[in-house]
Parts: sequence; C-alpha cells; structure tokens
Amino acid sequence: MPDSFSQRLLQAIGAERERRAPPADFPALPPLPAGRYRDPAFLALERDALWRGGWLYAGHADELPAPGSFLVWDRLGAPVILLRHPDGEPRAFFNACRHRGGPLVDAKSGCLDTQLRCRYHGWSYDFDGRLSGLRDRRDFPQLAPADCRLASLRCERFGNWIFVNADPEAEPLRDWLGPVGDYFERLDLDSLRLVHRELFDINCNFKILLEGFLEVYHLGNVHTGTVDRFLDYRATLMLLWPRGHSCMLTANRSRDWQDPGARGMPEIGGATDLERHNNPSLHLFPNLVTPVAATGLPFNLLWPQGDERSLLEVLWFAPGWGDGERPALWERRIENYNRILREDIELVERIQENLRSPGMPDPLLGYAERRIYYWHEQLDQRIGAERIPPGLRVPPRLNALVTEDWP
Ligand code: FES
Ligand SMILES: [Fe+2]
Repeated sequence: MPDSFSQRLLQAIGAERERRAPPADFPALPPLPAGRYRDPAFLALERDALWRGGWLYAGHADELPAPGSFLVWDRLGAPVILLRHPDGEPRAFFNACRHRGGPLVDAKSGCLDTQLRCRYHGWSYDFDGRLSGLRDRRDFPQLAPADCRLASLRCERFGNWIFVNADPEAEPLRDWLGPVGDYFERLDLDSLRLVHRELFDINCNFKILLEGFLEVYHLGNVHTGTVDRFLDYRATLMLLWPRGHSCMLTANRSRDWQDPGARGMPEIGGATDLERHNNPSLHLFPNLVTPVAATGLPFNLLWPQGDERSLLEVLWFAPGWGDGERPALWERRIENYNRILREDIELVERIQENLRSPGMPDPLLGYAERRIYYWHEQLDQRIGAERIPPGLRVPPRLNALVTEDWP
C-alpha cells in the first residue's frame, strides 16, 4: 500500500465534511421491512444462512499460549475446541466424539498433553483429529480408525486473531478479509495482545445493535456527552467492500483532541495521523465492528441469543506492556468505552420493545446509513433472495458503490 494512503484518506474525509447533499447518482434506498427483525420465518432463514458459512472471529493467540492449549468457543450453540497444534497453528474441532457424541474436553480452557480423550468411553484423537485410541477394538471390526476423524472447521489466523469457518470450501481467510486485511497490515499486528474481555447481555435482536455501530448519525442525540463531543459525525467517509465488509472513517472535531483514557499509552507500530486524529471503524461481515485508535482497538462482536436477545462481546487489543499487571490506565479507558456502549444499549432495547408495536415503521435509511442497507443486501445474498418472502426482501441498490479499493 502506498505511503500516501493516510493522506488520501484524510483528504477524502475532509471532502465529506463539505458536501451539501448525497452524490447526484446515489440511489433512493427503499425502507427495510420491519419483518426482518421479528418474522419467525425470516429469522429462521437468517439463522441458517448467516452463521453456518463465512469466517467468524473465535479467539486470540494469547489464549492458546502453548502447544496443546485449548479453549472452548461456544458463541453459536455448538461447542468448538480451538486448539494450538504443536506446529504452532490453531485447529478447530467440534467438541463431539465420533463414537456417540461425548465431550472431548470439559473445561472451558486448559492444556492437553498429546491427545483429546472422550469422557464417555475413552476414545482418543490426536491433534489432527484422527482417532488414535479405541478401547475394545474387537467390538468394532468394521471401523477403520484412519477414516475416523473429528468433525472440524476451517481455522486460520490473521496476525494473532483466529477465525473459523464451517464451510470446507471457503476461500482463504486473507482473501476474504480483502481491504480490511490491507488496512490492518499497515499496523504491527504481532505486537497486539488481548487486554480485556467484557460481555453485555442485551434485550434486542442483534441486528438492531449492530446497525448502531454502522452509522454515526445517532451521535448528535445518543452520545451528546461522550462521542459527539470529539467526533465530527458529518466528516465521515464510508466505503463499501465486497463480501459485505465496509468501513467508516470519521474525523475528530479538533486536531488537538486526545482521548483522555488513552493518554500515556503506547501507539501501535505503523499508526499514523489517520488513527491519531480520526476514527477508522471497520466492519467484517456479519458481526465484527472495530473502531481503531492509535493506541489500541476494541473488537465489538455481536452474537444472537435467540431472536430477541443478543450478546455483545467486547475484546480489547493493544501493544503489550511487558510482564506484570495491566497498567492501571486501562480501567478508565474501558470504563469510558463502556459508558458509551451503555448509551447505545439503553436505546436499542427500546427499539426492540417497539417491534411489537403497531406503530413500528419499516426503518428509513438516509445516505449516512447506507452501510446498514448494504449489510441487509448482503444478508439476502447469503440467504438467496428467492427463498425470502417478497415483502421481506431488500432489493439490491448499492452494487455500483462496492469497490475493492481505498480512495
Ligand atoms: S461417546 Fe466418545 S467414546 Fe463413546
Ligand atoms: Fe452509539
């Protein structure tokens, strides 16, 4: 990526601040059918299509420190073992024995010597998932141990971030990341460690919360005492990328502003004025949003918990501090961020209540909310538009704006 990358983006953000209307060729966006948030048949289609293929963030290498380290990733209701193979790379297996589905690990995390061993009848598997030990072999004359493997998921790493994909034919993670990967490769990703994890239970369909992360139009009402004081929501550049990914780069109101919660923290190697004086927020379809600061970044991951509840998982990554306790500065930074999230959460739960109201409209989207429309277009593509009842479809409007490139 050329050195002028940040400069070009800063110019493009400045041009957004000055615009007086959407571009002349920007299409009118039809309202989003409200049934997409509450119709059981639609939600069932969404559930099947959205989470069973496609790369999903699952863990960080810090959580798998040694060969044999594992954790159980259970965000989608099917427990998956993430395991560090002795070759250094992660593997992902469903936590279900090939015999009769017994659990291979019980703890949420730990470290295994050389094998996975089922608790029910003791069948064991090596770290490639091959059956390596079978008690009373004489009773299974038909079984060919070499063909007996744990069901696995694709599992790949970008920096220290580990993603899984249930589709064995999926394209490689780096190809799927596209421009999001280009952006992050400017930064010293290997220096980022997992600083903190926080979970929020939220009473709304996960899309309602996600949509709040895809626009800054609400800053001037919901975050008047927080984000709106330092981010200039009108100075926002948005880019729509293939596969449903997108980004939003918003300028700080003043070049002098510095996040008081991040003062004194080291910068990520490779960070520039783009991160120092703006908020680049990247979205990986379907459920990861990360607003990047020069000193660190939270991953906001949204997971459905049924149709009317969701889990927001916030993971903080930042340059390490050597050995010892986490610097005390982090308490304030995390609390500042959580305060902003609580402003969002309080609001989105009201919208969920309104989904039951005859007064709930089909949401209307303005130009600054086009990433939301794009997200829904992508959902329909995943489901297959022909499978969706016509009244609940989102007709594609934004194809012409989708680009592989940065400005
Ligand atoms: S279910 Fe695993 S050994 Fe029987
Ligand atoms: Fe918000």
